[in-house]
Amino acid sequence: MIPSPAEPPALADGHSAAEASPAVVFSDVSLTLGRDAAAVSVLNDIDLTIPAGQSIGVVGPSGSGKTTLLMVMSGLERVDRGRVHIAGTDITDLSEDQMARFRGRHIGIVFQSFHLVPNMTALENVAVPLELAGRNDAFDVARRELQAVGLADRITHRPSELSGGEQQRVAIARALAPTPSLLIADEPTGNLDQETGRQIADLLFRRAKEAGTTLVLVTHDPGLAGRCIRSVAMRSGRLSDAAAVDRGAA
Ligand SMILES: Nc1ncnc2c1ncn2[C@@H]1O[C@H](COP(=O)(O)OP(=O)(O)OP(=O)(O)O)[C@@H](O)[C@H]1O
Ligand SMILES: [Mg+2]
Repeated sequence: MIPSPAEPPALADGHSAAEASPAVVFSDVSLTLGRDAAAVSVLNDIDLTIPAGQSIGVVGPSGSGKTTLLMVMSGLERVDRGRVHIAGTDITDLSEDQMARFRGRHIGIVFQSFHLVPNMTALENVAVPLELAGRNDAFDVARRELQAVGLADRITHRPSELSGGEQQRVAIARALAPTPSLLIADEPTGNLDQETGRQIADLLFRRAKEAGTTLVLVTHDPGLAGRCIRSVAMRSGRLSDAAAVDRGAA
């Protein structure tokens, strides 16, 4: 059988290629967005390898390209040059359908602006992606995840009836629920008070450790970046190796 590009082949020892490969590899990635006078070289010559199971904090000033880096990592934005591998699969040229299926199986995303479905309750926002993935315990899992982020008493609220921090926690519950191998989060504690932010960070790191999840966190919070095994800095679309700090095991 010839494996499809979205299905890493099983190896002889029973492990899949996904387990044997780095979680993320960017090879010489560049991307320009906008046209003419509005064109911006948002990502420039990015090389980045994130081993499976590592936690990495991405820091850098506003407009430096952090969100765009995450969009490329999750296959929601296509590159102009270079290749992107996720868990051993080259996602650079996957079709939208292939990418959506791949994302559903491997990647959890917490968007900077949450992207919750407005006419669904918190419970439905977390459960529906699980249902679509064929889980018949979707609503039980969703209830548990919402409880874990402290929202047990908000499950029937719609996003417009939730505070910004509560919406953020629904987005985190939704991303964690399918136990993705790669969790990508854009300012996951950005709307939270210090204590709630600490609790959510504890939850992210605990869950990542339990499941061997690779964590990629964009943050302006030095405390959160400092909890990652490694941190890198974006500046004007370039990833600064000079700012990479290897902290060893977290
Ligand atoms: N569609 C687009 N067309 C033109 N320029 C764009 C487009 N999308 C993003 N940009 C520009 O790309 C740059 C990087 O944007 P990005 O959202 O990745 O920054 P960021 O580092 O996440 O910033 P922040 O910390 O404010 O969230 C910005 O200068 C932005 O204006
Ligand atoms: Mg951003």
